[in-house]
Formats: sequence, structure tokens, C-alpha cells
Amino acid sequence: MECARITRIVEILVFGAGAIGSFFGGLLSQRHDVTLIGRAEHISAVKSHGLRVSGKTSIIAKPHAAMRVPQGAKPDFVFVTTKSYDTANTMIALRAFADRAIFVTLQNGLGNAETIARTARRVVAGTTAHGVTFVGPGEIRHAGVGETMIGAWSRVSESDLVRLRDLLADVGIVASVTSDIRTELWSKLVVNASINPIAALAEVPNGRIVRDKLLLGVLEAVCREATAVAKAEGARVDEEELRHRTILVAKRTAANRASMLQDLDRHHRTEIDAITGSIVRAAERHRISVPLNASLYALVRAREAAFRVTSGANVRD
Ligand code: PAF
Repeated sequence: MECARITRIVEILVFGAGAIGSFFGGLLSQRHDVTLIGRAEHISAVKSHGLRVSGKTSIIAKPHAAMRVPQGAKPDFVFVTTKSYDTANTMIALRAFADRAIFVTLQNGLGNAETIARTARRVVAGTTAHGVTFVGPGEIRHAGVGETMIGAWSRVSESDLVRLRDLLADVGIVASVTSDIRTELWSKLVVNASINPIAALAEVPNGRIVRDKLLLGVLEAVCREATAVAKAEGARVDEEELRHRTILVAKRTAANRASMLQDLDRHHRTEIDAITGSIVRAAERHRISVPLNASLYALVRAREAAFRVTSGANVRD
């Protein structure tokens, strides 16, 4: 497939400007009309000084920024990058665009594309392994380069996907189009479930998990259990390939504090339910034993409870 230079300015709304949303929105704003929607402090910092991206990418981006969907917005694309537990509420705020825009989810966990497609007509599901840390209001660090995959979820054509891929490529985000996005979502889920809870509980950046022999052993065992569940769910995955991929993601994002660790650091609710919870629930359906995933699920839930989870921290980091 040819990669065309995009000349027309495209209107893009990014709902959930945490680390990942700000990263995609910030880079796209270099060529397009992008509005980031997020929390007050971040939005006010972006409005005053722009969005500082440091690390593997170094720019100061100048997207529009707002706390609500601006009146008169007519987005061609809506990126949904909220935390997965907020997707249903997000779609209430975005229903005005449900018929005309293409919705793109890059969220962690399972179930987001289904939830979006209950309201929106045209949906692209995607995964990204870029490691991005929210440094503070107006600032993110691109800690690791990773693969981005996009695929049709509902009523999008091959040419819509190619257009989106080219939009991203044009601002330096390499994305691949897949014809089997469900397998991709399961693969990403396995990678996430094998890194995030361990990083969160051990309180270490991703790279430490693969450098520490004991932690690496846990990662591999968690990954094995999760892969068996993914296979039972019909995903076309291979145990050795996923083990290798998970280790590669952890190495490439070595300096990154995984999103679940960033959430616990800030005493915010985590996505354990959409990530490890999805694996534990599917394992129950298929009567597969997943003792490690079940333990990690219980332990992260306990950490959240101990923090008496604060509300309002709803964007994907
Ligand atoms: O959630 C995250 O932090 C990321 O998905 C990943 C790939 C684990 C890298 O930190």
C-alpha cells in the first residue's frame, strides 16, 4: 500500500487527553486541526504554553484544548483515549458525532470498541505499544517507541484505514493495518496483562521486569496463562511469539512506568478490571485455571481499595 502525503487539513477530536491521547493528538496537531479534551489543569497548561513532548520525540505542540466538546465541532475523526471504565459515559458526550465521524479507540483492555459501536456507526479499533508517561500538566514523555495497529471494527472501509494510517505516518507515527483486529486486541491484552500488574505491584519501570530474573519468571508464567485464554477465545496467537513480543515491548519501553503504575502512583483507579479482569472472566467461561492472573487481579484491586480511589482521573495514560 502506497503512503500518500495528506494535504487536506483534517479535524480531529481527542477525548481523554492523558499520556497516550496527548501524544497522538499532539503529534497530529503539527499538521491538522486537533482539539484535546481532558482535565482542567492539563488543558489550561496546554492552552497557555502548548504541549511539551520530551524523550524519543521532542516537540512543543500547539493543539486546541478544551474541557468539553466545543460547540460547532465537526470532527472527521474522534480518538477515544479515556480509561476503559469511562467509555460508556464518554459516548454520551460524543453522540453528536456518532453518524458522521470515524471513531478510533486506542484504549487498553477489551470491550471498548463494542461499547463505542453501540452509539457510533463507524469504528476503528486500534492498539499501540508506545510507552508514554504523563509528566505533569502540559507535559508528557515519550519513553518508548512501539507498534501501532489499526483495523476495521464496524462500517469502515479499507480506504478509511489507509487514510488514517497515512495521517499518522505523516506525523511520524508508524501504524499497520490488520485484517484481524480481534487477534491484535487479544495480543495487546496479553502483553498488557503480563507487564502492567507486575510493574504496578513491584513499583518498577518496565525494563526492570525483564532484567530481574525472578520478575521475568512471573511475567512469562502470566503470559502463558493469558495466551491459553486468548486461544480459547479464538485469537490466532502463539505462546512463544507472544512471550517474545511481551519481552520486546518491556525492553522497548524500558524507561516507562506502565500506565497501571502511573495510576497507583497518583492514587487513581487502574484498568485492572478491563485488562487482567477480562482474562480472569474469560478463563472462567472456558474453565481454564489462571492462578497467577487471578492473584495479580486480587492484589491490584486491594491496592486500589487501600487508596480509597479518587475519582476524576479518567484518561488513558
Ligand atoms: O499500559 C501501558 O503502560 C502500555 O500499554 C505498555 C505497553 C504496558 C507500556 O508501558
